[in-house]
Amino acid sequence: MCGIVGYIGKRDATPILLEGLHRLEYRGYDSAGIAVVRDGALRTAKCKGRVRDLEQVVPPRFRGSPGIAHTRWATHGEPSDRNAHPHLDTAERIAVIHNGIIENAAALRRRLEGEGVAFRSETDTEVLAHLIAAMPGESLLERVRAALRLVTGTWGLAVLDRDRPESIVVARNGSPVVLGIGDKEMFVASDPSALVRHTKSVVHLDDGEIAEVRADGFASSTLDGGPTEKVRHTVTWTDESFDKGSFTHHMRKEIDEQPDAVRATLSGRLEPRFQTSHLGGIEMTARELLDIRRVKVLGCGSAYIAGLLGAQLIEQLARLPASAEPASEFRYRNPVIEPDTLYIAVSQSGETFDTLAAVQEVKRKGGRVLGIVNVVGSTIARECGRGIYIHAGPEVAVVSTKTFTCTATAFALLALHLGRIRDLSTAQGARLIAGLKALPEQIGAVLAQEADIAGLASQLARAEHAYFVGRASGYPVAMEGALKLKEVSYLHAEAYPASELKHGPLALIAPETPTIVVLPRDDLFPKNISTIEEIRARKGPVFVVTHEGDLPVPVDGVMRVAKSEPELDPILLGLPLQLLAYHVALARGCDIDKPRNLAKSVTVE
Ligand code: G6P
Repeated sequence: MCGIVGYIGKRDATPILLEGLHRLEYRGYDSAGIAVVRDGALRTAKCKGRVRDLEQVVPPRFRGSPGIAHTRWATHGEPSDRNAHPHLDTAERIAVIHNGIIENAAALRRRLEGEGVAFRSETDTEVLAHLIAAMPGESLLERVRAALRLVTGTWGLAVLDRDRPESIVVARNGSPVVLGIGDKEMFVASDPSALVRHTKSVVHLDDGEIAEVRADGFASSTLDGGPTEKVRHTVTWTDESFDKGSFTHHMRKEIDEQPDAVRATLSGRLEPRFQTSHLGGIEMTARELLDIRRVKVLGCGSAYIAGLLGAQLIEQLARLPASAEPASEFRYRNPVIEPDTLYIAVSQSGETFDTLAAVQEVKRKGGRVLGIVNVVGSTIARECGRGIYIHAGPEVAVVSTKTFTCTATAFALLALHLGRIRDLSTAQGARLIAGLKALPEQIGAVLAQEADIAGLASQLARAEHAYFVGRASGYPVAMEGALKLKEVSYLHAEAYPASELKHGPLALIAPETPTIVVLPRDDLFPKNISTIEEIRARKGPVFVVTHEGDLPVPVDGVMRVAKSEPELDPILLGLPLQLLAYHVALARGCDIDKPRNLAKSVTVE
């Protein structure tokens, strides 16, 4: 959600910032802008649109250092040239880029207008530029600190002062800020992807911190002025891992990476000797795990849906009552936190604001929470302090694919672990280990059917509405299938529990409204066949995702996956639906990696 990048050092900041913006564009992409200091003046360029549009409006010989740049996902004010960041004060001395929302922006704006300030945009961020300029103080740091004391809301902030080009001031409250440490040069970004080309050594700011970043280092402190101690982390992701390689879209590349990504999630975690899994990062003893009476999973979007699958796995294998809830709903309903419940926060990015707030709510009330996260060192991972990294590698496409599959795999490992501490027998443990080991190859076999799935997608692409239905663990698979399709292809798709179809949505089944049925060969197979009959009786086209074997009813399209262990089947059943969404989007000419109105990492409420 909005990308921030900054540079201070001997080099010209412009190419570093523009290249950094390309890396960050998946965070938000409705407008972009850049500011650099040169010869005692601020030079800025900004526009509505993508980073490539910004590159067109950046004048020749636009050079300087330090510099800051931004790619935006609009909160206050529509995407437009004038609402694009950076925002400047009236004297064009201060430049600000900002992620987050200033909640008292309207009141501050009225106050500043009363003092004669003429605003140039509708954004909350412009308030900050004028406010910082109006503050007393010798240094930029003091001015920013004074301004932030008047502000309520969330921010990830980078500020330049034309008259003090020896530093960039950054601050964090609810929106991530990372410092990259180079050799006599420093980088600033909203996530490390923008920095890895230049440095692997990073420092994450914490909420309530502010830092003065100079070419030769940084000093961090609280808003009250107390110095803070920071720990350096090393980023393991390489710059190349963010590239599309030979693929036309990141989404397609990330679908393809799933066999290796799942191998990485499983790596070193299977313990065939004791028919269990080894999860060092959860840092809980067998005794503590045995005391758990309930599990509650929290996440947003695909992470929430992966959590639904995870809760079912835990309930099946460990016989612990488990449920999942959107993190945003959870945090707002004053939840009861139970001491013997294990809370699990799921987040690919580790930065989703609502998930982070839910974790903080659990911790504040004394609950135990662990994270299932992809990005090492991210805010949620640090806030939880323990958990499971899925090690899926960078996911750049806005829609989740490989991280969904890897999160479900991580849940299977956790469920196996919790199960083996309880009643799951060694034989059952061995069965699941064999099933998990087989997954990467089985995933590869599903992906090899792409041409057939693309054929079905061309039929589906003509529809305006589609239903996805499934029963029990097939229902989250249907939910994720529908979410993928609507996010990436804009085809209106709704998921329903198969049994609920006749309680309402059947009214909408018609020859032009296809239904995709998740149809594993399990105990519920006959029930799902009855659902298909109900749809066919209303002349609704039916596509199924299923296992090998004859179908007792005619259908309009079949996607097949290999049979795994019943508990692991949902992981494979979801894969054809990713390819289906991708090819429908391709057929409809959509911007696959950057769907309209969405962002990869939602760091605002
Ligand atoms: C956004 C993305 C979704 C993602 C969700 C949660 O809405 O568009 O694809 O599932 O955030 O993200 P997280 O990083 O917490 O998994």
